[in-house]
Amino acid sequence: MTDNNKGYTNRRYFIRSSALFAVAVTMPSFLSCKDGDDNKLEGEGCKTTEDILGPFYIPNAPFREDITPEGSAGVPLVISGKVLTNCDVPLKDAIVEIWNANDGGDYDSSDEYLFRGRYKTLEDGIYRFKSIIPGRYLNGNTYRPSHIHFKITAPGHLDLVSQIYFKDDPYIASDPWASAAKARERILMVGEDANGIDMVNFDIQLSKS
Ligand SMILES: [Fe+2]
Repeated sequence: MTDNNKGYTNRRYFIRSSALFAVAVTMPSFLSCKDGDDNKLEGEGCKTTEDILGPFYIPNAPFREDITPEGSAGVPLVISGKVLTNCDVPLKDAIVEIWNANDGGDYDSSDEYLFRGRYKTLEDGIYRFKSIIPGRYLNGNTYRPSHIHFKITAPGHLDLVSQIYFKDDPYIASDPWASAAKARERILMVGEDANGIDMVNFDIQLSKS
């Protein structure tokens, strides 16, 4: 997880994550709202909870399903789900944007937008990406658990910034964002798709603006 030399010929573009992390951390907002959650907020319904944007977001990533650079190291991962409104109504024209670190825990900052992409939903609300299980990177003296960043926008709805994590990651407990109560529904079990590729399902519930 700490070898940054794997798989990339253009690694000079990858940001050394740990050096920059401290400058752009914002406090997570308070939006936990799942049914039965002690922190449920009136009016929030089933909305997916927010997480920090982090310092590595770059706007205008290309629209594409496969965000993995050819020949890159790492365990392939399919990330898919539905964007929903009113808790269970598929949402058309939502733009799901994801970005993640490479296998060595570094983010690309080049104009190639490696491991970055956007997907616009159709009537079924479904989105789908192909990436890898991201490497971990240091935050202070401990690693952030493996995670994938999300930003979702849709007409008539509030923007949502969030992250997903992976069940049984040993670094979740020491991470203030992944261990927060509101992140509980975003710690996902990794399964396999029909082709034997690792996959996670993450449905995203937006709130109307
Ligand atoms: Fe990150």
